[in-house]
Amino acid sequence: MIPQTIRSISSAVKNLKIPGCANCLYKRFSIMPSGQKNLPTRYLGQPSPFTHPHLLKTGEVTPRLTQTEYALRRHKLLSLIQKEAETLGSSDHAIILLSHPTYYMTNDIPFPFHQNTNFLYLCGFQEPDSILLLHSIPGMSLPSHKAVLFVPRRNQNRELWDGPRSGVDGAVALTGVDEAYNTEDFRQYVQKFKDEGYTLWYDNEPSVHSTLHSDYLQPLVDIKTKSKNTVKPVQTLVQYLRLIKSDTEIELMKMAAKITSEALNSTMFSTKAPVDESYLYAKFDFECRARGADLLAYPPVVAGGNRCNTLHYVKNNQLIKEGELVLLDGGCEYSGYVSDVTRVWPVNGRFTEPQSELYQAILDIQKACLSLCTPGISLENIYGFMLNLLGQKLKDLGVLQEICQNDVFKAVRKYCPHHVGHYLGMDVHDTPDISRSIALQPGMVVTIEPGIYIPEHDTLAPPRFRGIGIRIEDDVLVTDEAPVILSADCPKELSELEKVLNCH
Ligand code: GLY
Ligand code: MN
Ligand code: MN
Repeated sequence: MIPQTIRSISSAVKNLKIPGCANCLYKRFSIMPSGQKNLPTRYLGQPSPFTHPHLLKTGEVTPRLTQTEYALRRHKLLSLIQKEAETLGSSDHAIILLSHPTYYMTNDIPFPFHQNTNFLYLCGFQEPDSILLLHSIPGMSLPSHKAVLFVPRRNQNRELWDGPRSGVDGAVALTGVDEAYNTEDFRQYVQKFKDEGYTLWYDNEPSVHSTLHSDYLQPLVDIKTKSKNTVKPVQTLVQYLRLIKSDTEIELMKMAAKITSEALNSTMFSTKAPVDESYLYAKFDFECRARGADLLAYPPVVAGGNRCNTLHYVKNNQLIKEGELVLLDGGCEYSGYVSDVTRVWPVNGRFTEPQSELYQAILDIQKACLSLCTPGISLENIYGFMLNLLGQKLKDLGVLQEICQNDVFKAVRKYCPHHVGHYLGMDVHDTPDISRSIALQPGMVVTIEPGIYIPEHDTLAPPRFRGIGIRIEDDVLVTDEAPVILSADCPKELSELEKVLNCH
């Protein structure tokens, strides 16, 4: 059952189509990006068209994504908020989204920084300790609004260690927001909205700001319990926008999937028994980055033999022996968009009989599920379909004995404890608050990843299948026509795999 508000948000998002040409945008939404006229020629805290012309064209905030596209996203969010606000009877709104802070591995040594994806989606700004504030303008109704960024103050000493910062001038010129201030000014700025009774759209995550952002977030601490303002969550609304990809986002996702497919091909090609999981991990990582990926989207699973049955196996430190299968579940991030692909192959280039029987069963199921990725069908529907097919296959293979229909799903879940797939986008488990029961729409990207896992200690399974784990995962774009498999360049037919593995 989909709650009514979600239904109406979903249809509201559907109706927020991006018009085809820039002139229509300007007219319809009065969006007039600055065109980066005042872009500083110095290095900023992230690539700019001036310092990294090989990555960005003029007008782009991050590779391929223009000021106009970011402005449209903010405009759509404010349109959703306007719809939600109709029931609140308030016309003054302030929306607050936080960047990530810097996380530290050990004293003074930062982990590589990764931006909060909701924040990034709305402004493209790549620095930690920043805040995006979108607020209504007195006398004007939503979706008209002002976009304000709060960014780290320029600081010679810090920049000596951490590299250049954009500063307020760089932030405005690059991203096209209306104004920018130093992060510490946020405290005073937001107080005004609190005092004037604005509705505050903000997700209170005390664990984040108590430990990380400190003083300047003080006005937001206990905001729910200690202020008279109405406080409403905003993250789910952003996720609704992120669910449907624009043409440019689709291009970026195609690129991420292509890089991953090619990297997996090269990794398979370099496999010889015996091999260390860590070697294949390093090879996959290298092949992704060498093709332009920014980083891996998540710690990959590189498992041999019975370790394929551990769903989140990421130790990747054991030797894969002759006769075993390799399972590699990996993906890269390319300009903020990710891929998530799984392939399984025999380490010595030849599937054994039991391995190929299980592999073919999962491949048949995966292809059947892929063909269902069409508008109107939900991931939950496809999951039910997968469980039915898997139940039948497991009976045919003698893994499940005859059991009454009521118990089939329970029995199947023992051998495939995860869902058939998830939404994919800027995060690997993208838009996690959106139910998998909503109908797929053109522009959504999902994974389809059925699996079967038969641990070596499962004494109820036929001995020849014990210790085999298989998952086949592709990334799929939903369209008005047939689903588009973004990771199609990576082989998965038994004969194709054996060919790649043996063409040395
Ligand atoms: N790689 C995580 C997943 O497949 O969901
Ligand atoms: Mn996945
Ligand atoms: Mn995966």
